[in-house]
Amino acid sequence: MSYKKTETYKHFIKSKYYCLKHKNYFHIYDLLLKKFKNKPITFVEIGVFSGGSLFMWRNLFGKRARIIGIDLNPDVKRFEKYGFEIYIGDQSKEEFWNYFFKKIGKVDVILDDGGHTNYQQTITTNKCVPMIKDNGMLIVEDVHASYIKHNWYNPSKYSFINYAKKIVDDINTRFPGIPDFKYSLKKYIYKVEFFESIVSFHINRKLCKKNSFINNSKKTTSPIEFRNKLDEGSILFKIKNYFNLKNNFTYPTFIINALKLKKFFK
Ligand SMILES: C[S@@+](CC[C@H](N)C(=O)[O-])C[C@H]1O[C@@H](n2cnc3c(N)ncnc32)[C@H](O)[C@@H]1O
Repeated sequence: MSYKKTETYKHFIKSKYYCLKHKNYFHIYDLLLKKFKNKPITFVEIGVFSGGSLFMWRNLFGKRARIIGIDLNPDVKRFEKYGFEIYIGDQSKEEFWNYFFKKIGKVDVILDDGGHTNYQQTITTNKCVPMIKDNGMLIVEDVHASYIKHNWYNPSKYSFINYAKKIVDDINTRFPGIPDFKYSLKKYIYKVEFFESIVSFHINRKLCKKNSFINNSKKTTSPIEFRNKLDEGSILFKIKNYFNLKNNFTYPTFIINALKLKKFFK
């Protein structure tokens, strides 16, 4: 389906002010945001610019939504007369976020379309995630900046996309035995979605539980674990049997397979 058929694109075209987005974003907006249509949500967009996206969001979410724009440029205060709330501040300043959330409280959705540097996107994520309600989300746009040298000084170990990947590692520490990170957002972020140029973090504190085994206490057929038989035909398996070695002898198979996997990581 063409992006022109998406609902958000229709609102983009209808907006009375200039709006700057990328064509591939409209499908993603539809996918992520349609569930909030006509709901009394608080939606925050970082990056107002010429105001066009504020009207697009109003058209999508309807009258009951509280729509808040954040920008460095004080001129965007002009959009308050249309019923938007506007805050002037720097998304890379922790004090700004402390002030903002003290005023506003928890919100449903935050869309980061601000300055797109690694630092701005990372500080914004850290400060915003704890202030998003359950079932809400943070959407970070233009994460392709993490791959671009000009202006963004990437790729870098500390690019935002690498931070988003670290959050994937972080939420996997909810599985027992996997060591915790010193800095963690795992008690808020239930799920991370990666799209081209966009990452969304889905908040649900209730589902962010430590994982553990469970069985249903029903009749068991005591099945053999067949994974131990996988290498039966291999030379390694024959050597293992010949010397009557225990299961940890499968380690060389893991090494050999890791070498075979290398090509997929190129
Ligand atoms: C890409 S434009 C926003 C486009 C707008 N959302 C739209 O869809 O038409 C980026 C905006 O972010 C603002 N901005 C840049 N750095 C910022 C920062 N550190 N804090 C807050 N806003 C910032 C700029 O002033 C600019 O208006």
